[in-house]
Amino acid sequence: MRNIILIGFMGVGKGTVARTYARIFDAYAIDTDDLIESLENKKIKKIFAESGEAYFRALEKKTAEWLETSVQNAVISTGGGFYKQPNLNQIGTVVLLHSGFDAILKRILSHPNAERKLAKRPLFADREEARALYEVREPAYKEVADIVIDVENKDPETIARELHTLIGEKE
Ligand code: S3P
Repeated sequence: MRNIILIGFMGVGKGTVARTYARIFDAYAIDTDDLIESLENKKIKKIFAESGEAYFRALEKKTAEWLETSVQNAVISTGGGFYKQPNLNQIGTVVLLHSGFDAILKRILSHPNAERKLAKRPLFADREEARALYEVREPAYKEVADIVIDVENKDPETIARELHTLIGEKE
C-alpha cells in the first residue's frame, strides 16, 4: 500500500481519521506531531514557546524527509502546516480533509477535553487569527491535494470508508 498522507486545518480530525482507517483496513497510523514530540522529547507547545515556529518547521522538514525514505503502508496524519513540505507527494497520496471553520471550532469545543485541545495548539490561541489562517490555508491545501474529502457532519468511520473507496479508484 502506498502511504496515505492526511492534510488539513487544526482540529479537523486528521488523527482520528488516521487511527480509524488503520483499525478498519489494517494499516499503521502515525502522526507527524507525535513523531516531532518524540524526536525532541517535548510537547509541541513547549517547542514553539522555547524555540519558536521556525525551529518547529525545520523539525517538520526533517520528519518529511524521514517519512519519504523510511515509511511504507501507513496512514499519516500531519500538523496543519505540514502541507508546505516540498516532498509531500513523494511520501504518499495526499488527502485533504475539508470542513468549514465554524464546524471545526464546534468539533473542538464539543470535546470533553476542549480546553486542552485548544491549549496545545499555539496557532489556535486567538480564534480570529486562526480563522484568518484558515482562509489562507484552505486554498493552499487544495493545491497540493490529490483527493479532497468533505468531512463536515460525518463520523470517522464514514470518512475512513469513503477514503478507502477514493484511494481504490486512484490506484
Ligand atoms: C499547526 C498545527 C498543529 C501543530 C502545530 C502547528 C499549524 O497540528 O503541528 O501547532 O501550523 O497549523 P494540528 O493540525 O494537529 O493541530
